Amino acid sequence: MKIGVDYYPEQWDRSLWSKDAELMAKTGVKTVRLAEFAWSRLEPNEDEYDFSWLDEVISIFSHYGIEIILCTPTNCPPLWLYEKYPEIVQVGVDGKPLQIGIRGHRCINNQIFLEYAMKITEEMARHYADHPSVVAWQIDNELEAYPCCCEACRDDFRIWLIDKYDSIENINKAFGNSVWSGEYSSITQIQPPTAYPSAWQNPSLCMEFYRFTSEITVKYVKIISSIIRRYCPKAKITTNTWFCEHMPDFYKLFDELDFVSYDNYPPVKIPEDPEAFYSHAFHLDLMRGIKEKNFWVMEQLSGPTGSWAPMSASPKPNMIMGYALQAFAHGADTVVHFRWRTAVTGAEMHWHGILDHSNVPGRRFFEFAELCKIASKLEILKDTQLISGIAILYSPEAEYALKNQPQTEGYYYFEQLKYFHAAFAKYGANIDVVSPETDLSQYKIVVAPALYVNNKAATENLYRYVMNGGTLVLTNRSGVKDKNNNCIIDSLPTVFKELVGAEVTEYDPIGNSEQKIVDFSGNEFVCREWCDILKLNTAKAYAQYADGYYLCCPAVTVNEYCKGLTYYVGTVCKSDFYEKFASRLMKQNGIPRLRGLSKGVEVTTRTNGIDEYIFFFNNSEQNTVIGLPKPMYSIIDSMGKDKIELKPFGMDVVRK
Ligand code: GLA
Ligand code: ZN
Repeated sequence: MKIGVDYYPEQWDRSLWSKDAELMAKTGVKTVRLAEFAWSRLEPNEDEYDFSWLDEVISIFSHYGIEIILCTPTNCPPLWLYEKYPEIVQVGVDGKPLQIGIRGHRCINNQIFLEYAMKITEEMARHYADHPSVVAWQIDNELEAYPCCCEACRDDFRIWLIDKYDSIENINKAFGNSVWSGEYSSITQIQPPTAYPSAWQNPSLCMEFYRFTSEITVKYVKIISSIIRRYCPKAKITTNTWFCEHMPDFYKLFDELDFVSYDNYPPVKIPEDPEAFYSHAFHLDLMRGIKEKNFWVMEQLSGPTGSWAPMSASPKPNMIMGYALQAFAHGADTVVHFRWRTAVTGAEMHWHGILDHSNVPGRRFFEFAELCKIASKLEILKDTQLISGIAILYSPEAEYALKNQPQTEGYYYFEQLKYFHAAFAKYGANIDVVSPETDLSQYKIVVAPALYVNNKAATENLYRYVMNGGTLVLTNRSGVKDKNNNCIIDSLPTVFKELVGAEVTEYDPIGNSEQKIVDFSGNEFVCREWCDILKLNTAKAYAQYADGYYLCCPAVTVNEYCKGLTYYVGTVCKSDFYEKFASRLMKQNGIPRLRGLSKGVEVTTRTNGIDEYIFFFNNSEQNTVIGLPKPMYSIIDSMGKDKIELKPFGMDVVRK
């Protein structure tokens, strides 16, 4: 397990490079990420490349045995390029070009930009081909499926649509353009749906524009990665991704890349509301699930965040260490901290690194140094991974469509997934978050919340899974839309009706109001947000409404289908329901449950097939004690233990 830092040599006086490298090596830093935004230093003028300074930096780090992650600097074209070709800049929703001189404002679909991005990448890849210190390449930075409104994007979108639908008539039909006289009679009438709030736009058009922008991002990554591969066939290539407003389809984004890397900034403030989801574990599991293998963290919380907003509180004692170890617990193999030293110049000077502006090592630095030591003890976990019997399915298209058309107050797609994730996590289970199209045969339980937009391959996958004996959980807002993001003339959950063995006769989007349900053992639960009123076909009721005008109507059902079982949760509950439900499912499926874990305690297991290593993380502000069924050896403290005692944000790792 390796700890690294993000380092920007171009922002520091040369005299600091060696001193920094020396201190990093002494501290136990194994990896450094370089060159991410340094295009203007690497190509100060057109076709005039200067790698000498980067060579010097790399040779300093190599001297100290520190490995290099090299980035294409393509996020930040130099100003000479913007000046020569103003059309390479992204155009905002107001139709105006974004102001240059900041970052990331290039349109990655613009041919001129692409040529220059390919050229600088080629020069770099050729120059650093086979360099023994370069262990990975990062493409660009935090790529977004940005809804650019430049002419190139608009024209390409039109062509992309015609290519997909063959004719204007087919587009009109698929989009239902007879609404509000929206019928196109010529391709020139097609506009990206960005000019007004998206609620006023045709949802089919919105969905297609999202698919288009996501594809552009994927194409860009393919173009740049293929250049690196041409010169560095053994390169391990990634791009650092994150959760943002315009997320590309992660599964497609990483298709051609070697591994996933993630920018991980867990919240410093733990919410007081016990219903508010506090754990960052879900995001880490989603990142691991993209390629269904271990991943890296390319940027990790190191200090107070700020610059884009007023500064956040500083990470509390143990958070820098605990959150990095939490990433390892969920399948990270390398965690790179953003950043070594806080910038003293530029817009980002209040987003803190490990070292403050003063450059005087402080509390956070010493905790980080301790983390480096612990990470080297965890080297024994190399080649281990998480194996899970439970999967939660994440659909990028459902996520987009539900964001585009919010269903009811308080209803967010990610939250629907997190309710289940938190419930299984409460019992110390490993949980995979994976694509609805992946092979599900390894799972005993699959939960697919709100599969809102129909995708034939995913639907067939779920039928196959249940037919072969799997236990599936579907929820409200499933099967609502066809692939064009239009509603389906059929009772819900349409394509899943047979699996579910029940159908929705009416629904009530109650938002923040509350209702009650009662399960077959008489347990009452509060529900909110959404209430499907169900009619049973072949299914049985698992819980029914205990209140209001749908009193006694089924709210949660279970149906035997071929060799498997499908549950349907027609409403949204508070955590007590999900915990009981998860416990029952785990028991039925023979998945071991750790009982009595206090709130916030997360337990995951990594294995190499022979040894198992259990991670205990206390993601809370209270001390906690966890009894072990037998004495186990702690890798962190190098001693046997029969109980685990954890401070707030503390972690222990034991061999089972
Ligand atoms: C993102 C970027 C970094 C940096 C941090 C902090 O994660 O990738 O370059 O800007 O935010 O602001
Ligand atoms: Zn564009």
